[in-house]
Amino acid sequence: MAGDLVINVNGKSHAVTAAPDTPLLYVLRNELGLHGPKYGCGLEQCGACMVLVGSEARNSCKLTVGEVGQAPVTTLEGLIENGELHPVQRAFIEEQAAQCGYCTGGMIIRATALLLQNPEPSDQKIRAALDGNLCRCGSHLRILRAVKRASELMWGDAQP
Ligand code: FES
Repeated sequence: MAGDLVINVNGKSHAVTAAPDTPLLYVLRNELGLHGPKYGCGLEQCGACMVLVGSEARNSCKLTVGEVGQAPVTTLEGLIENGELHPVQRAFIEEQAAQCGYCTGGMIIRATALLLQNPEPSDQKIRAALDGNLCRCGSHLRILRAVKRASELMWGDAQP
C-alpha cells in the first residue's frame, strides 16, 4: 500500500508515499527534492539518473522504489560530507569536466563506484566503466582526466 515504504537515502530514513512500482528516480526528485539524479532517457541507456545503491552504481529510472528496500541509496548530494565535496566531485570541478553538465552527476556516481572497487583504474577500465554514461558535449577526455585526478585525491600514495 502506498505510504508504507521506508527507504534509506543519504544516511536518513524516508517514508515514501509512492507505490512500490514507482521508479526510484521519481521518488528522489519529486518526494525528496534531490535533483542530482536527472531524467535523461528513462530507459537505462544514458546514466543521467545514476545513484549508488550500497557501493554499486545503478540507474534509478528503472529501478523501483520497492526493489531498493532498505539498501542504502546515495545521490550526488549525499557524497558531500560535513560540507566538503567528495574528492570525485572536486576532481570534476578542477578538470572542468563538463559543458552542459546534464550527465555529470551520473558520471560522478559511476566514477565513485569504480574507484571504490578499483582505486587505480587504467584508461581502458575507466572508459569501460563509463561506457553506459552518455555525454553529448564531447567532454570525454576531461572526464577521463577527472577520474584519474579523483583517484589521486581519494587514495594518493596510500592504496587501500
Ligand atoms: Fe536513467 Fe537515462 S534516465 S539511464
